[in-house]
Amino acid sequence: MRRRVGRAWRNTVKDTVFDAIAREEQRQNNNVELIASENFVSADVLRAAGSVLTNKYAEGYPERTSIEAFQRQYPDYVHTGSVGRYYGGCENIDFIELYARYMFQKAFHTDYHVNVQPHSGSSANLAAYMAVLQPGDTILSMSLDNGGHLTHGSSVNFSGKTYKMVFYGVDDNGYIDYEDMRAKALQCRPALILAGASAYSRIIDFARFAAVAQEVGAYFMVDMAHIAGLVAAGDHPSPFGLADIVTTTTHKTLRGTRGGLIFCRAELARKVDSAVFPGSQGGGLQHVVAAKAITACEACTPEYVAYIHRVVANTRAMCDEFIQMGYQIVTGGTDNHLFLIDLSNTHPHLSGRMVQDELDRHGITLNKNCVPNEKRSPRDASGVRIGLAAMTTKGWSEADCRACARKIDEIIRAM
Ligand SMILES: Cc1ncc(COP(=O)(O)O)c(C=O)c1O
Repeated sequence: MRRRVGRAWRNTVKDTVFDAIAREEQRQNNNVELIASENFVSADVLRAAGSVLTNKYAEGYPERTSIEAFQRQYPDYVHTGSVGRYYGGCENIDFIELYARYMFQKAFHTDYHVNVQPHSGSSANLAAYMAVLQPGDTILSMSLDNGGHLTHGSSVNFSGKTYKMVFYGVDDNGYIDYEDMRAKALQCRPALILAGASAYSRIIDFARFAAVAQEVGAYFMVDMAHIAGLVAAGDHPSPFGLADIVTTTTHKTLRGTRGGLIFCRAELARKVDSAVFPGSQGGGLQHVVAAKAITACEACTPEYVAYIHRVVANTRAMCDEFIQMGYQIVTGGTDNHLFLIDLSNTHPHLSGRMVQDELDRHGITLNKNCVPNEKRSPRDASGVRIGLAAMTTKGWSEADCRACARKIDEIIRAM
């Protein structure tokens, strides 16, 4: 058989990828998406992320001349942090990066320094630790099986391999055990205390963490990756003014492009900037930085604030429906965009993984999750995590959420 050459062959090869993208688009359109860390971005975010900015190298930070030009247009912008690019031709890139920083300060009502270059939430956490810690320093954070993230000190992650980790957890009701956190802080005298989680459904008392950090002379860092949208909309207390460093992803409740951000007090700005570049990354993904700027613009609108209020109301509605049907919810409810169903007492024959797989077969996507005092391995887990940020973007109402809870119950009862 003659091998097809030239343009036709190249197009066929590329079609393989574009066909798969089309199938994924269809899956996203058709499925019920309940993964708490996912969302659907706007056409403008997609446009910026798919733009020609992907062609440009821009290692470093905006040039002094660009900053001065930006400040002539936006006189209330106060520049902090490192200055200077390693490549020419960066004037448009500089403007976009400065605008992203400016708009994120507006979105979170803060004057903290912002670094918009971290490629992801994990890269943001890596750079944040590097900025203020030495290898071997102690971090006090929430354990993975109680709702923390891999980058909060898991032994298989750089964080657990580089730093000495001490963990606090949740009490018997599933709430953060603040007394335990303080006792451990007094005992281990950490260099940094970290608040924030991937699977915690209640308000986090940042003031309480900050007081303990001050008591033991530790840095206080907040990873608000999951709840960033709620912080921006005023549906969760803000860490700004309390934390020394705040990291986040931009793609969960913030409903933006995939990526990370680091906010910090002005006095840490240069340390944070140099921990990102050249400390842990090379050139920024400037198309993603542009998409982050669009994300920030969108987060400043009344429509976005109304969206987040709906996310919280929808999550409560679905959680309430499960409670009424007799399901056990970790902490007995939710204050944010997610909740955890603990199947271990009500459905001891089912693991979280079995429920995840069966729902997948019905076009409902969610993820298994460990529950407090987990008896199963994390691969199976005894719970599932449900979030409503994505389906609220699709226009779901509280009635839709209650109906979906009943459908999930029907599927689980048939297992
Ligand atoms: C609390 C928290 N921090 C950090 C991250 C890491 O983000 P990324 O997947 O972009 O590296 C996540 C991701 O789920 C998260 O939940």
